Amino acid sequence: MTEHSGISARKSVADIVDGAHGVRGGGQPMTKTLGATSITAMGIGAIVGAGIFVLTGTAAARYAGPAIMLSFVLGGVACAFVGLCYAELAALIPVSGSSYTYTYATLGELFAWMIGWDLILEYAMGGATVAVGWSGYVVSVLKNVGVTLPPVFTAAPGTAIVLDGGAHATALLNLPAAAIVLLLTGLLMLGTSESAKLNNVMVAVKLVVVVAFIALGAFSVRRINWTPFIPPNTGTFGHFGWSGILRGASVVFFAFIGFDAVSTAAQEAKRPQRDMPIGILGSLVICTVLYIAVAAVLTGLVPYARLNVADPIAKGVDVIGLPWFSILIKLGALTGLTTVILVLLYGQSRIFYTMAHDGLLPAVFARIHPRLRTPYLSQAMIGVVVAIVAALVPIGILGEMVSIGTLFAFTLVCAAVIYLRRSERNRPRPFRVPAVPVVPILGILFCLLLMFGLPLATWARLVIWLVLGLAVYFSYGRHHSALRGKEHPAKVR
Ligand code: ALA
Repeated sequence: MTEHSGISARKSVADIVDGAHGVRGGGQPMTKTLGATSITAMGIGAIVGAGIFVLTGTAAARYAGPAIMLSFVLGGVACAFVGLCYAELAALIPVSGSSYTYTYATLGELFAWMIGWDLILEYAMGGATVAVGWSGYVVSVLKNVGVTLPPVFTAAPGTAIVLDGGAHATALLNLPAAAIVLLLTGLLMLGTSESAKLNNVMVAVKLVVVVAFIALGAFSVRRINWTPFIPPNTGTFGHFGWSGILRGASVVFFAFIGFDAVSTAAQEAKRPQRDMPIGILGSLVICTVLYIAVAAVLTGLVPYARLNVADPIAKGVDVIGLPWFSILIKLGALTGLTTVILVLLYGQSRIFYTMAHDGLLPAVFARIHPRLRTPYLSQAMIGVVVAIVAALVPIGILGEMVSIGTLFAFTLVCAAVIYLRRSERNRPRPFRVPAVPVVPILGILFCLLLMFGLPLATWARLVIWLVLGLAVYFSYGRHHSALRGKEHPAKVR
């Protein structure tokens, strides 16, 4: 059953779930290979990355000081409310597509399109952001082993760099960032099962390194570095004090992004009703605890003002006084960042798959390779675009865009839970958000709070991106929509 209200057609949940097995584009359905452990690992793989390895230091030094721990608590609480909502929806509607699909079932096609378009910021641009962080760490590790990459090819165009000997220059492009994106794209084209196995190994390495940092670092913490815990505000909003904790939370929110990526794998899960909530909430809880501990140890090791560097965790390790551990940490960070890029690129292709299946994107995005069973063409196109963005755009601009775009999508996911409780009252819910509508409303309020912590320029970029999305919808998606085609065949080309 579908509803059609003039401006925006709406799918019923039954339509979405039942239709998920057909494939537009003449290909094959995807295989169900993922269990709860792989999905939790996939979540951790998506979550622990540039946020903790790069942005924690920046945010502590510039906005919150040692109280960056409270910023992580704030971000974690917001994500917990949203995570509960994702878990209910991922179990209720276990198909690929994440919040795009949930919005289709609630607010209708136009809003679903806008969310799908907005999610490009989270997944594709998120992948580019982390690739830039990866590039920073790879340059640092190679330097440790005596290899210096030409600096003009390791940063976004226009970035000021100081060459050996003190001469100044501007960078041309970030080649390592583009290279890692293309490499991982190739891997994803080869197959989900292979990628998931490699991902599990890399997630294990990343966790060991993070836990080792907490365990070894805890012995060298100097409590004096935690005083003052909340440095006084400098007179500018967001620079220390309570507003600094909020700005810090908006920045390190990036560190939590990814737990929702798990929901894009619903169609490839063996038992989605059970595995989805475990995967989403499990990975979120593990990461939040780790983040608060890392933030506590890091700010206890190094005076916060000195943490505004590209590899803050390695700086903390220097204080512990174990040089071998410093290299190990950098390798662990590289591994961690790799898994995040992998999951974000994967998520993007699955969202495009679902959107193409609905006719809102060209059918080529839903084409599955007959032997590899992956959306190989879509994955390749995404890889090329993300590689170009990673080569050309600085991490600061990318990171803030990713955060605001994701927070926007999260507010609609929370709203979808409230809506579906009424419109799909009788559908069985293997996982239920407690205290509806209080929990989803709190999720919305926390996301809005974090959005207000971001600068005005970031808001302006979001608006421009969404307007661009509307233009694409009205010139393509609306005329090719499979749902509208069913309702009004004459209207759809
Ligand atoms: N949460 C991911 C990261 O920190 C996006 O890199």
